[in-house]
Amino acid sequence: MNQQKDMGIVARAPGGPEVLEWTALEAGAPGKGEVLIAQRAIGVNFIDTYFRSGLYPWPTTPLVPGSEAAGVVEQIGVGVSEFAVGDRVAYTMPLGAYRQRRVVPADRLVKIPDGVSFETAASLMLKGLTVQFLVTSCFPVRAGQHVLVHAAAGGVGLLLGQWLRALGAVAIGTVGSDDKVATARENGYAQVINYRREDFAARVAELTGGAGCDVVYDSVGHDTWRGSLKSLKRRGMFVNFGQSSGMIADFKLADLAAGGSLFACRPVLFDYIAAREELKSRAADLFARVAAGEVRAHIGQRVALADAREAHAALAARRTVGATVLLPA
Ligand SMILES: NC(=O)c1ccc[n+]([C@@H]2O[C@H](COP(=O)([O-])OP(=O)(O)OC[C@H]3O[C@@H](n4cnc5c(N)ncnc54)[C@H](OP(=O)(O)O)[C@@H]3O)[C@@H](O)[C@H]2O)c1
Repeated sequence: MNQQKDMGIVARAPGGPEVLEWTALEAGAPGKGEVLIAQRAIGVNFIDTYFRSGLYPWPTTPLVPGSEAAGVVEQIGVGVSEFAVGDRVAYTMPLGAYRQRRVVPADRLVKIPDGVSFETAASLMLKGLTVQFLVTSCFPVRAGQHVLVHAAAGGVGLLLGQWLRALGAVAIGTVGSDDKVATARENGYAQVINYRREDFAARVAELTGGAGCDVVYDSVGHDTWRGSLKSLKRRGMFVNFGQSSGMIADFKLADLAAGGSLFACRPVLFDYIAAREELKSRAADLFARVAAGEVRAHIGQRVALADAREAHAALAARRTVGATVLLPA
């Protein structure tokens, strides 16, 4: 009989990476419409830090962080017909991925295609689906358009650069240190600006012959939003989809008029995959891009699940490149 306890990470109160604790976490049995998964790889996302710090309200206390993982179905609950024991599956949401085994609603799972590893799937479900909806639905990017992306060497950033290249867009990326420039270029960015050294809006004006960009995908927020608006062409689209540097506080609708009849939106992935059919079709598009070799997970950091606090500290310190995966074994 297997006496080993399931382990995972909890936070008992909001705070810095040090609140993440490695502890016993019983997975339990799957109920109606649920499956039990033995997890093989867990994706780390910046949103995990928003929950850990308390920036986003906790659905439960203590909190088990984590919104993206991949593994093998171990047990199925009543009424589950789409999945069977032994299936390789991945998901994004619900919260609670930082654990070795867990119960997940079956309608949030997708099967991992042959040839795609657990680590790749665990790096793509949240970050890759985000890129998918950003470039196809939020602002459908066309060949030849100029697109500015902040944090271009990050987990989302590298996937976005690759996808934009595949679409034939001209991607301009910003990064916070010179050692990230080469990776951003290899992953689709025609031009890369170090926004800690240079005025990126002025550089974008130079690079686009004064025209500006059709769209800015801005996940940095507080430090970048003003420059992002300045980087747009008349009637361009400002997509703010994150706040790695802090919340945008003093944005006014009048800023859009002053910038040249701009558009702005603040989308969230979960509103684009809430319906099961939409989740499946977006995941199918993502994995088709992966199969075609157009989109490839760039895993820059592999960290033991027990050391999740190290992964969070590195993300906050801007030391990571591409995706980070936690390994639960
Ligand atoms: N809306 C949605 O549905 C959705 C879905 C997924 C992700 N997101 C957002 O997308 C963003 C990227 O997520 P990710 O997991 O791939 O993270 P990431 O981009 O790998 O990490 C965040 C990056 O932001 C940059 N940054 C700029 N100022 C920073 C600061 N003050 N502190 C920390 N980092 C700073 C850093 O890159 P440099 O050093 O190069 O500047 C850092 O590497 C996050 O804001 C996340 O919330 C949103």
